[in-house]
Amino acid sequence: MEGKRPKIAVFGCTGMLGWALLDALPRSGFEAVPIPEDKVDIRDAEAVENAVAAAAPAAVINAAAYTDVDGCESNVELARAVNADGAANIARAASDARAALIHISTDYVFGGGRKMPLLESEPANPQGVYANTKWEGEKAVRQEGGRWFIIRTSWLFGPNGRNFVDTMLRLGSEREEISVVNDQEGSPTYTVHLAAGIARLLDLYISRGFGEPGIYHLTAAGHCDWHEFASRIFEARPGRVKNVKPISTYDYIESAGRPIAPRPAYSVLNCDKIKKKFGIALPRWEVGLMEFLDSKTIQPK
Ligand SMILES: NC(=O)c1ccc[n+]([C@@H]2O[C@H](COP(=O)([O-])OP(=O)(O)OC[C@H]3O[C@@H](n4cnc5c(N)ncnc54)[C@H](OP(=O)(O)O)[C@@H]3O)[C@@H](O)[C@H]2O)c1
Repeated sequence: MEGKRPKIAVFGCTGMLGWALLDALPRSGFEAVPIPEDKVDIRDAEAVENAVAAAAPAAVINAAAYTDVDGCESNVELARAVNADGAANIARAASDARAALIHISTDYVFGGGRKMPLLESEPANPQGVYANTKWEGEKAVRQEGGRWFIIRTSWLFGPNGRNFVDTMLRLGSEREEISVVNDQEGSPTYTVHLAAGIARLLDLYISRGFGEPGIYHLTAAGHCDWHEFASRIFEARPGRVKNVKPISTYDYIESAGRPIAPRPAYSVLNCDKIKKKFGIALPRWEVGLMEFLDSKTIQPK
């Protein structure tokens, strides 16, 4: 039976979302084929082509990216090579292998000017190097053709990667007061929930021949600003923290003492399309947060 499971090749499998995907895919009846960076650098078109051809997958997931949003500002070439050219390499290889593609993109393709949950059809307005190179990646995927899904998600947290929740927990063990910006709004999304949603999408599309490729938004339900997110973390795990101070993005940048990339003031994604077409909706962000915090709690013997 094992040999009959459709294969899903996963790029970025050592990252936060990739790790959750390797866990979720087998539970939806797939064989996950990890393609780690030490074997295949996605900037190398030939290596990507060979890896996908060798895996002969039913679908390829591109969860690989250069995700250091501030780091991208001073490493423009690397950001473009990974986020745009690497995305094109994977899309071409998937198309050549007649495999479907799930390309992971970001809420940061939007500029943040409009305070209404954003539809897939909303014009992009990326700000900063990370956002621009991810947008170029989306365009490259569309140009390569084949059966592609672009999944835009936001504010990821979960095991096995750098994320806001872990940063807050670390700071909370060191400080009594923490300043957090309160003028950027988004939907914090638990990677474990997102990976389950993507596995469900593949189950419907690959195993049951249901639904159409295209651009889909998929985040946790609900939204908040970073200050509210931090406050919820410290309510559950206070550490030494007595005061979570709201500050503006302007004040944060002034006090940072290092280059900070622009981020959208509002990037809440409207996820109605994927719910309507596939029946997929993720739990609220607070549920994801509590599950993630609980997963860290060491159970007494
Ligand atoms: N994190 C967020 O808040 C967020 C929000 C919205 C969308 N997204 C998108 O979601 C996806 C997954 O994000 P994530 O947070 O899980 O990322 P992550 O934890 O930073 O993992 C990125 C992965 O990409 C791999 N990678 C980087 N450069 C590579 C290269 N040249 N060749 C091959 N692999 C390479 C990394 O490998 P190594 O570990 O070996 O370096 C790692 O496995 C990305 O497309 C990201 O843009 C993320």
